[in-house]
Amino acid sequence: MTFMVGGAPNELAFFEKILASYTVDTGVPVTLIRQSTDSAQRKQGILLSLRGQQTNPDVMLVDVGWIGQIAASGWLEPLEKYDIDKNVFFQSVIELADTYENKLIGLPLYIDGGLLYYRKDLLAENGFSAPPSTWAELRDMSERIVPRQKAQNPNFWGYVWQGAQYEGLTCNSLEFFTSAGGGFFVGTATPVIDQQANVTALQFMRDLLHKQPISPPNTFTDMKEEEVRLFFHNSNALFERNWPYAWGLHNADDSPIKGQVGMAPLPGFKKGQSASTLGGWHIVMSKYSDMKSESASLIKYLTSARVQKQLSLKLGWNPGRSDIYDDAELLKANPALQNLKQVFKNAVPRPVIPYYSSVSQILQKHINATLADRVPAEQALKQAQIEVLELIKDYGIK
Ligand code: GLC
Repeated sequence: MTFMVGGAPNELAFFEKILASYTVDTGVPVTLIRQSTDSAQRKQGILLSLRGQQTNPDVMLVDVGWIGQIAASGWLEPLEKYDIDKNVFFQSVIELADTYENKLIGLPLYIDGGLLYYRKDLLAENGFSAPPSTWAELRDMSERIVPRQKAQNPNFWGYVWQGAQYEGLTCNSLEFFTSAGGGFFVGTATPVIDQQANVTALQFMRDLLHKQPISPPNTFTDMKEEEVRLFFHNSNALFERNWPYAWGLHNADDSPIKGQVGMAPLPGFKKGQSASTLGGWHIVMSKYSDMKSESASLIKYLTSARVQKQLSLKLGWNPGRSDIYDDAELLKANPALQNLKQVFKNAVPRPVIPYYSSVSQILQKHINATLADRVPAEQALKQAQIEVLELIKDYGIK
């Protein structure tokens, strides 16, 4: 049997171990097919196999951002007949992402939400007792602290986030836009991209790089999850936007910033207007698998309370199961988990539509052009709106 998964090196190493223990328990060997961390590249690999109706991979992880497209293509094996208890998972996520035409087609292996990481020590040394709750505060704190740090480390910056032209930029933009009162769509067929709140947010994003910059100049060319994580990890930034996986790595024994990191909801343009994009990866079975009952048993194993707990303890991932968030051992290891449960419950989904990836590519292209300071925010969003409307027309969506 084969299992296809991508991720950071420590995540892949962890999966090797879990699969080996599954084989010890069941006698069924499983080969890990490794992918990169980039969501679009992972999708390409998966599409190649499914389009070609290949028997491998049997089981794989798909991004909440494009599970809708894979399901609509009819490539996923419905899971009901394998006696799976879907009630132990976050119900809103099961309904949003794992149910297609009333059939259960996947399970959330873990849930992601964008978070703010900050240097507790540097904030405290400079007289700040809490992380920023607005973007203006984040800027003020950076402007106060960064020049002092730069004196010792010229490569020190205020805020690192995912601004390269790829799916992560869409996730970051959704957070900035929503936290200004804007967003991408109303419902699933009405784009509202060229609204004033989004222009304000995009202007702010651009200014982070170009007007009294507090984000590094390579934000729009290079910054994806791991680039951002390593930048902050190596003590080169005050604030970082990343997913929950960064927490465990920042606090690992060999981390230069161990014990100095705080985690909070992202700021908003007004207090209390924070937004976190709903991310996460779902475990699914290929319709073309020739080992379906073994595949179902692997899916049950990886979503069992025991393995979900390990994913949380070892990788800092947030379980797709909602029934283990009160577990004493988990809370001891990661006291923030209780608060995170709330962040995930309120997280903003990307539109779950079969042509979402094309929408995202349009957004990435135009938003990135503003970050590169090539196109003003208003014009970029106008153009994105026009192209998304054309796409919807091409798909014949009412
Ligand atoms: C994370 C999220 C995923 C998102 C991706 C963007 O992997 O879990 O949902 O699409 O980041 O880079």
